[in-house]
Amino acid sequence: MIRKAILAATLMLALPAAARAQGAGSLNLYCSATLEWCQPIARGFERETGIRVSLTQKSTGEMLAQLRAEARNPRGDVWWGGTGDPHVAAGEEGLTEPHESPRISELHDWAQAQWRQTRGRTVGVYASVLGFGFNTELVARRDLPAPRCWADLLNPAYKGELQMANPNSSGTAYIVIATLVQMMGEEPAFEYLKKLHGSINAYPRSGTAPITAVARGETALSISFVHNAAEEAQAGFPVGHAVPCEGTGYEIGSMSIIKGARNAGNARRFYHWALGAEAQITASREAKKLQTMSNKGVPLTDGAPNMATARIIDYDNARFGASVERRRLLARWDKEVGALPR
Ligand code: F6P
Repeated sequence: MIRKAILAATLMLALPAAARAQGAGSLNLYCSATLEWCQPIARGFERETGIRVSLTQKSTGEMLAQLRAEARNPRGDVWWGGTGDPHVAAGEEGLTEPHESPRISELHDWAQAQWRQTRGRTVGVYASVLGFGFNTELVARRDLPAPRCWADLLNPAYKGELQMANPNSSGTAYIVIATLVQMMGEEPAFEYLKKLHGSINAYPRSGTAPITAVARGETALSISFVHNAAEEAQAGFPVGHAVPCEGTGYEIGSMSIIKGARNAGNARRFYHWALGAEAQITASREAKKLQTMSNKGVPLTDGAPNMATARIIDYDNARFGASVERRRLLARWDKEVGALPR
């Protein structure tokens, strides 16, 4: 018996990587972080397990739409990354499976809370705070004040200078709406968004596009997660950021196993691996990401914004992740804000 096992192990090592990967099977990874982060995640898991990963990257709202479209014939196995609300909605719509990893107790409270509140259908893998990014050279050249507060963004001097993503496709932009509704109340929040609309020069599909535009000097200001602004600054671009003085919302970047996954065993293996400190450290360093990782054993990277010191609201994940509420707020935004002339 033991000789057989040794022989099998020796054969595995002797097999070329491709053949080994074939034996280990495959995994269809749906990823809603940026491609620069999805790729090291996919490669890291392949290295660790020999399982071949095929990767699909889309913004969080777009990926939820894909899961809905594929509900009768699921093609993805696990959905990693992207903001929490669409993951919560997917769970509520029965598009994802509950799962319990032995690593749950290794996670920060916010990541465990996400898992408990969705009865195991999604779990936190990282978190970050919503704020503003700005191009330090452009604001100086155009004599614009650097924004510090939500109220500052309504300054008429910012007309045509501001970008945020489209909340239908981008989980980041949906968090902007949900945050303002929680902080101001729904009517004042929509009044604010309508006024803001006059200053917006574009609503791109992805949540990171506005900060990329800031970094390249294509727009002066953006509403973005502050870690994205800090990453651009670390990459050498003239980018500053601010956490809004009145307080702000945050994301729980999430992970869910897709219901009806064809490679369900590999999806569970990925889930376990992705919650580990080692995988989180390796992939985030490789991708130069500055979020707070969900495993408590992962230290904050140098230059990463510290969530513990930011003034953040008690974001209501259950309400704003609920499908009916999300659809209602998006439809209202389309009708009352997105459709307005600029
Ligand atoms: O780093 C990428 C990121 O900012 C994540 O923190 C976030 O979960 C994701 O993008 C959201 O992307 P989108 O707004 O395009 O759905």
